[in-house]
Amino acid sequence: MIQAENLTKVYRIPEKDPGVAGAFKALFRPRFQSKTAVKDVTFTIEPGEIVGYIGVNGAGKSTTIKMLTGILTPTGGRVSVLGRDPHRERVANARDIGVVFGQRTQLWWDLALIESLTMVGRIYEVPDARFKQLIAEFSETLDLKELLKIPIRNMSLGQKMRAELAATLIHEPRIVYLDEPTIGLDLLVKERIREFIKRVNQEKGTTVVLTTHDLGDIEELCKRVLIIDNGVLIYDGLLDTIKQRFGKYREIIFETAADLNGLVVPEGAELLEKSERRLALRFDRTQTSASRVSASVMSQIEVIDLSLKEPDLSLVVKQIYRGGLKEATSDEIESAPVAVVPV
Ligand SMILES: Nc1ncnc2c1ncn2[C@@H]1O[C@H](COP(=O)(O)OP(=O)(O)O)[C@@H](O)[C@H]1O
Ligand SMILES: [Mg+2]
Repeated sequence: MIQAENLTKVYRIPEKDPGVAGAFKALFRPRFQSKTAVKDVTFTIEPGEIVGYIGVNGAGKSTTIKMLTGILTPTGGRVSVLGRDPHRERVANARDIGVVFGQRTQLWWDLALIESLTMVGRIYEVPDARFKQLIAEFSETLDLKELLKIPIRNMSLGQKMRAELAATLIHEPRIVYLDEPTIGLDLLVKERIREFIKRVNQEKGTTVVLTTHDLGDIEELCKRVLIIDNGVLIYDGLLDTIKQRFGKYREIIFETAADLNGLVVPEGAELLEKSERRLALRFDRTQTSASRVSASVMSQIEVIDLSLKEPDLSLVVKQIYRGGLKEATSDEIESAPVAVVPV
């Protein structure tokens, strides 16, 4: 459905010396500095996928999206979307795609939402009956009913984003590109938007390309991720693979009233901390399991409570940014932020 082959974008940034003289010089003899924002990126996206395109700020995510949507032309390489060149065949392409840029609105600032949606519907020639159906559907799934009469300028960021999604999907595109759709939103709105994206993908088979630096979005929505770092694609594969490869170590914490002297550390685990009431063990998931480690401890001492710490995906991704796809060392795991999940 989407093919990118050695996709490259080099921006030319004009350079100018300070002051009026510099401005004149730049006018008559422009000098440029170049910045390679995307370099030799190759991937294929199949119909119906939700693919997460992740990377830190400035990694090249938006630049890639702009080339995929035909807004920018590549400096090198090729893009093909549904068999077309998205830039040269912009008009035909526009019918099949929808785009949301999280930081700017594409809607008319002064118009009430319903008027904006009607305009978009007319532009894409959505039949009246279908338009009404979709408005009813979005009113429900995006909770838009109360917003239809309100102008965009009076909406909160979360309301604007919901309005934006409705406008982007009113012509039922086969592909949507969402560039940081949850940026700056509170958790509840994020949740709602994630639910909505999931639903559109499941019910209509819409292909979704999602760029984000919110890993919560990724964990909830994407099976497959592409990771871009400094313009270069450094990973293309399943999210689970990354988690398994990097999340090799787990920590398990026991609360106990018993005396811990003489405790034998279970096989495959090592001792992190032993105090009067607390025992923390780390184990290698590929060698043993949480249940085996806890069973062994519980057969030796009385345990009041226990919890398991899962490695945080943000650590895992940082790891990849920093060192490529090699195993994280246990020191890095130790200093990592962790989410605590009760067993
Ligand atoms: N119009 C532009 N002109 C020059 N440089 C740009 C332009 N847009 C982006 N860049 C640079 O290209 C790099 C990638 O930017 P971008 O694709 O926006 O990254 P991301 O969306 O991952 O944050 C950054 O270094 C950015 O400063
Ligand atoms: Mg961006």
